[in-house]
Amino acid sequence: MFDGIAKILYNMSMNHYVDKSILPYQTGQIAAYELQVRTCRDCPLALTRTQAVCGNRRYQGDIMLLGEAPGAAEDRLGRPFAGAAGKLLRQFLAESQIAEERLYIGNTVKCRPVKPGKRPGTWSNRPPAPGEITACRRHLQTELALVRPKLIVTLGAVPLSCFTQDKPQMSQYHGKPFIAGERAVFPLYHPAAVMYNPGLRQAYEEDMRALVRYIQEEII
Ligand code: URA
Repeated sequence: MFDGIAKILYNMSMNHYVDKSILPYQTGQIAAYELQVRTCRDCPLALTRTQAVCGNRRYQGDIMLLGEAPGAAEDRLGRPFAGAAGKLLRQFLAESQIAEERLYIGNTVKCRPVKPGKRPGTWSNRPPAPGEITACRRHLQTELALVRPKLIVTLGAVPLSCFTQDKPQMSQYHGKPFIAGERAVFPLYHPAAVMYNPGLRQAYEEDMRALVRYIQEEII
């Protein structure tokens, strides 16, 4: 019964119009947050990064897309999802017709995790280590407080693990929204996983359609 009441209250709040324009005092908070990320030295990734990567700056968006961590292109350009995975993500988003202004795009870990590459003197991407995810948690919490998204779409297991008690298996969670505290979370596979494993493409496209239905039914 409590679940039912919680769902009704949640739906009422999702459908309630919230003015998300940026207020003047928030501009200062955003600048402070971005400076904090760019100058962070809380973990060893600070030693190998070119630059820390903040989100896409659409702090008024009501849907947060949360990736894993920057890769080589993001580290170089200073923007999230600036490489091949981002191209595929944008393609899926364009097909979904979710308005871009609604999307805040960021990452769980703000600096590129690297391991030595095959050729001497080069670096390759790797998934962030648990200690790096924990060290970056304070930035994610500030980001969530600034953006106040109604819905968080997690891309892959790393961002999803920030909202589950267990170590999540994507095969169990993908496409099934759930409530974590006061937020809705919609887990998707990471677009890079779809690139490397084309067998996931159909599931990813179905999840995208389910996400669009969820947004239409629960938010708009
Ligand atoms: N993968 C991510 O998770 N984030 C990016 O910004 C780029 C690739």
